[in-house]
Amino acid sequence: MAYAYLQCQLPSPLSFLLSALFLLLLPFSSSADAGFSEGINCLHPEILKDEAVARLVELGKVSDAEGYLERVFQSPASVRAGNLIRTWMEDAGLKTWVDRMGNVHGRSEGLNPSEKALLIGSHLDTVVDAGIFDGALGIITALSALKVLNINGMLEKLKRPVEVIAFSDEEGVRFQSTFLGSAAVAGVLPVSVLHVHDKSGVTVQGALRKNSIEISEENLLEVKYDPETVWGYIEVHMEQGPVLETLGLPLGVVKGIAGQTRLKVTVKGQQGHAGTVPMKMRRDPMAAAAELMVVLENLCKQPEDYLAYDGQCLESTVQSLSGSLVCTVGEIWTWPSASNVIPGQVSFTVDIRAMDDLGREAIIYELSRKIHQVCGERSVVCLVERKHDAKAAACDPELSLKLKSAAAAAGGRWGVIDDNGKEESRAVDEVAAAVPVPVLMSGAGHDAMAMSKLTKVAMLFVRCRGGVSHSPEEHVSEDDVWAAGLAVLAFLENTTLSPHLSNNYE
Ligand code: GLV
Ligand code: MN
Ligand code: MN
Repeated sequence: MAYAYLQCQLPSPLSFLLSALFLLLLPFSSSADAGFSEGINCLHPEILKDEAVARLVELGKVSDAEGYLERVFQSPASVRAGNLIRTWMEDAGLKTWVDRMGNVHGRSEGLNPSEKALLIGSHLDTVVDAGIFDGALGIITALSALKVLNINGMLEKLKRPVEVIAFSDEEGVRFQSTFLGSAAVAGVLPVSVLHVHDKSGVTVQGALRKNSIEISEENLLEVKYDPETVWGYIEVHMEQGPVLETLGLPLGVVKGIAGQTRLKVTVKGQQGHAGTVPMKMRRDPMAAAAELMVVLENLCKQPEDYLAYDGQCLESTVQSLSGSLVCTVGEIWTWPSASNVIPGQVSFTVDIRAMDDLGREAIIYELSRKIHQVCGERSVVCLVERKHDAKAAACDPELSLKLKSAAAAAGGRWGVIDDNGKEESRAVDEVAAAVPVPVLMSGAGHDAMAMSKLTKVAMLFVRCRGGVSHSPEEHVSEDDVWAAGLAVLAFLENTTLSPHLSNNYE
């Protein structure tokens, strides 16, 4: 079974006449309601697909670097990106503002401003040499869906406020501390983070101040949302893995997000002349770092060989780690970094992720033990700093179910073709009930992790090509962008509009 994009069922001239008659007979029914019903049945490719894709491309050009995409926390390009997103929020009929952590917000209060709000978000920062979908997809699909509601006159009829947040930092590239934006909104960002500095000595506080945003230990909590005012959080994100593509399906929901730890390992040795110091007399931090990286790789490939204490393998830990444990060294610095000098110091990052928090801790413990053993044997001094920790986060089953039915409804709206390539002739609800929406785990970190400390969260994954992400090769097809927009639209209808205003597919 596969999805096929069926033509939007535009109302026939006869149905126009009938609705006009209906409106005359029902003077108290608002014309927006009748128009909405027709409009929402359309698939809105001009907004949910064409415009959304054009915006992804446009945002993907907002970069600090020449020739590749790089937009780290509070860089000049990230401020330009935030301004652009703000204009799109206004275009969707939302009231906008930027908070003290640089997050860009767009909100519609709807009918009941004191009701708990639905938050929808993702991040506007990128990694270095990034693709255009990671983060941006979630912001743009949410804004497209709200724009469809707005042009159908539905935004002021929302039964609860809806707010889109473009978070200022999820990747943690500049300060090595991820989720600066969403953790501040969730109220779990430690004040000490304000004084962490980047490679050129600028602090988080200084980076914000450069963009005229004043944040201090005293006012950081102003960014935090009161959990009593929030109903839930959803996030659309490209899958960044190959599962949906392998299954041949555009959308899936997320069950949980792997926990992660980021370490910085510094190895100090004896700096010297590459031509004169005999090999046996060296205390070379580069060779030690290389050995440590191989130790890490072996440990994470075969945890069962290492997590054995007193001859007793921790079977449950190993089992729960298998399949989800991944470890990466992504960055390395050497001093003084010259080809004819034995380095004096080498530092590198370690990124460790697993679904099982205790298992991740066991790996970190074992790695630290090995680091001290190897460094002792090589007579170099090693320091391990813990830069970032995030526990695995579970998505809320009930909210996820609603997102799942919205994804199925999106499938039902454009139809399904059977294995013989024939269009199915079943009713939309019937098709929706048959649309498979798989449930996946996420190895990548997401703002939803931080937001899970504030409220219930759910995530929708969108198929990507080859499972590739954090690369300019990252790609989501135009039709899948559309599918994601339709799913958000269906979710908004089902959770924020009264049943008589929405097509209720639940
Ligand atoms: C963010 O994309 C991460 O998982 O590192
Ligand atoms: Mn990313
Ligand atoms: Mn991301």
